[in-house]
Amino acid sequence: MHPLVFLSLALYLLSTVSSREVSEGQRGFSIDLIHRDSPLSPFYKPSLTPSDRIINTALRSIYQLNRASHSDLNEKKTLERVRIPNHGEYLMRFYIGTPPVERLAIADTASDLIWVQCSPCETCFPQDTPLFEPHKSSTFANLSCDSQPCTSSNIYYCPLVGNLCLYTNTYGDGSSTKGVLCTESIHFGSQTVTFPKTIFGCGSNNDFMHQISNKVTGIVGLGAGPLSLVSQLGDQIGHKFSYCLLPFTSTSTIKLKFGNDTTITGNGVVSTPLIIDPHYPSYYFLHLVGITIGQKMLQVRTTDHTNGNIIIDLGTVLTYLEVNFYHNFVTLLREALGISETKDDIPYPFDFCFPNQANITFPKIVFQFTGAKVFLSPKNLFFRFDDLNMICLAVLPDFYAKGFSVFGNLAQVDFQVEYDRKGKKVSFAPADCSKN
Ligand SMILES: *[C@@H]1O[C@H](CO)[C@@H](O)[C@H](O)[C@H]1NC(C)=O
Ligand SMILES: *[C@@H]1O[C@H](CO)[C@@H](O)[C@H](O)[C@H]1NC(C)=O
Ligand SMILES: *[C@@H]1O[C@H](CO)[C@@H](O)[C@H](O)[C@H]1NC(C)=O
Repeated sequence: MHPLVFLSLALYLLSTVSSREVSEGQRGFSIDLIHRDSPLSPFYKPSLTPSDRIINTALRSIYQLNRASHSDLNEKKTLERVRIPNHGEYLMRFYIGTPPVERLAIADTASDLIWVQCSPCETCFPQDTPLFEPHKSSTFANLSCDSQPCTSSNIYYCPLVGNLCLYTNTYGDGSSTKGVLCTESIHFGSQTVTFPKTIFGCGSNNDFMHQISNKVTGIVGLGAGPLSLVSQLGDQIGHKFSYCLLPFTSTSTIKLKFGNDTTITGNGVVSTPLIIDPHYPSYYFLHLVGITIGQKMLQVRTTDHTNGNIIIDLGTVLTYLEVNFYHNFVTLLREALGISETKDDIPYPFDFCFPNQANITFPKIVFQFTGAKVFLSPKNLFFRFDDLNMICLAVLPDFYAKGFSVFGNLAQVDFQVEYDRKGKKVSFAPADCSKN
């Protein structure tokens, strides 16, 4: 039997950081990512059955994407403000200010701004820890209106009175943060790694539409735009980061690696161009050429290979494909699996499920990106529901994702994935991520 994914135990990750500073000034360090379904995560609900957990995960995935639906995505002005906040598939701990104050935030590769709730606060969502208090930090500084970041984007603006740079960032689901754009020292692992004068949002007017825990106090944007953590660290981390995601059943830790620590090695490293679309400046796009199922290749109907047609995202669980392409994919898959019977009573939001029979042989499935064949295993594409005696495809048509194709995090499990912003490529290497 192939090792399909079934969630019961998730992962718990300690917050430790390892760091190496090198003479060139480029650094390598890593931060632990905390999976939200981990037994020790603030979101863990022990009462859920494994099936409930999978369904919730899948629903969350859709939900995250639908957040972008409330705004008109075709309108550029609006778009710059529309972000998909993935409300916490992965969290990260960091420290802010001098002396440093610990914060737990959502790690989001689909948005840019780093922000935390600040005092004094007009409207903040409840949090267990005290709000961040700028006046208690010796390294805090307000950004002025005429500073470069303030003039470079339409989420920042100058008030009628005063010289503070204000920001307002509205997420697609109605979640929002407003406040003052500031600079601060940001540290990882207490004080082992410090980045002074990091631009962040001091949020005094914040709303999480779907708050998940009082322990989360903000979002760390890891997206492609200029104010994300990775963009700001820039040269210092060689414009690179990587991760190696674990199956949900694992209890080992996941590291988000930066700079010199990221480089992935070993046999089977493949790379594909990283494409930034100016209309969606936060997203990391790749170009999917087609999918091979067994001996058959299903080609994406496309003319321009330099165009990104699929987002790679850390926070989205499932994979989403263009509707027609998805249907052809399922047809081929059904054929390759030799499945005649499909289930009708399938759990929402899944679309294609079949009985879990012992004689199922999974075909070889390859996602073919420009220049990179990524061989996926059954655990990357299917969920097994033991109690329902059913297997469901963890891929859905992209109308759930409002027209975006997304290469989700389940598909990336047990791959080292490196984003090289400067080299403009994303690399994949199959790995046992519990050993990374
Ligand atoms: C930042 O601006 C606020 C609001 O005007 C002010 O109260 C605070 O003293 C300023 N902080 C610093 C360090 O300049
Ligand atoms: C870190 O990266 C820089 C630039 O790529 C390289 O020159 C240096 O040798 C690397 N250091 C380590 C310890 O890998
Ligand atoms: C698999 O086994 C089931 C009975 O468990 C049978 O109905 C089906 O035809 C078998 N499929 C294949 C492809 O052998």
